Amino acid sequence: MKSQSKLKINNLSLSFEEEIIKNISLEVNQEEIISIIGPSGCGKSTLFNIISGILRQNKGVIKIDGIEEKKRQGKFGYMFQEPLLFSWLKVLENVMLGYEIKGFKKEQAKLKAQDLLKKFNLFEYANFYPDSLSGGMKQKVALLRTIAFNSSILLLDEPFGSLDAITRSSLHLYLLEIWKKLKLTVIFTTHDIREAIFLSDRVYILSKKPATIIDCLKINLPRPRKTEDITSKKFVELEKKLISLL
Ligand SMILES: Nc1ncnc2c1ncn2[C@@H]1O[C@H](COP(=O)(O)OP(=O)(O)O)[C@@H](O)[C@H]1O
Ligand SMILES: [Mg+2]
Repeated sequence: MKSQSKLKINNLSLSFEEEIIKNISLEVNQEEIISIIGPSGCGKSTLFNIISGILRQNKGVIKIDGIEEKKRQGKFGYMFQEPLLFSWLKVLENVMLGYEIKGFKKEQAKLKAQDLLKKFNLFEYANFYPDSLSGGMKQKVALLRTIAFNSSILLLDEPFGSLDAITRSSLHLYLLEIWKKLKLTVIFTTHDIREAIFLSDRVYILSKKPATIIDCLKINLPRPRKTEDITSKKFVELEKKLISLL
C-alpha cells in the first residue's frame, strides 16, 4: 500500500442555523479504506456533501492529491444508502450511464459496462431490470455504476445500511474484492462498529452534532479479511476499544 495522500481535509466547518461540522481534519491515503463512524444525525452525510462539492464549507481546506480543490463536483464516486437505480433501465444501461455521464460515447460505454459486469460477476444480470433484483444485488449494481462514473476516490455513505446482516456481510466481501482488484481509495460512513472495523485500515470516530473527530483508530488486522475474522481476539479487542471511544 502506498502512503501517498489522496484526500486531505483541514479544519473543516459548516453551520446552518446551528453548527453541524466543527473543525474536522482528516487524511486518506491512496488505496486506503477509511471509515467514518458516528451516531445518526451527527453530520456524516453533510461531511460527504461538502467533500463532493454539493455543499460549501464555511471554513477549511480540502486537498486532492496534494492540491487545494475548490470545485470538487464530479471528482468523486458518490454512493448513497438507497441504490437510486433507474427502474426503466436495465442493469447494463444503469452501469453504462456512469460511463456516459463521465463522457464516454454510448458504444464505448456499453463495452466498458459489459467488461465491468463480467469482471465482478454481474454479467448474467445485465438484461434484468432493477425491480427484479434483491436489495443486495441492487447495491452491487449501484456500486459498479458509481465506479463507472468515477473510481479515483469513492465516497460510500452507509451503502449497506438498509440490508440484513447476512447480505451485508457478503457485500463487504464484494467491496473488498473490487477494492483490491481496482486499487481503490475508499471513504465509508457507517454507524455499525463491526462494519467499520471489518472493512477499514483506519476508523475516524465522530462525536454527535456538531461533528468533531474524537479519535482515529488504526485497524491492524491482516488482509485479505474473512468473515470469520470478526470472532478473532484482535477483532473483539478493537471492537471494545471503539465502543469505549464512541
Ligand atoms: N441543508 C440543511 N439545512 C439545515 N440542516 C441540515 C441540512 N442538511 C443537514 N442538516 C442537519 O445536519 C445534521 C446532520 O445530518 P446528516 O449529515 O444527514 O447526519 P448523518 O448522515 O450523520 O446521519 C442533521 O441534524 C440535519 O438536520
Ligand atoms: Mg447520513
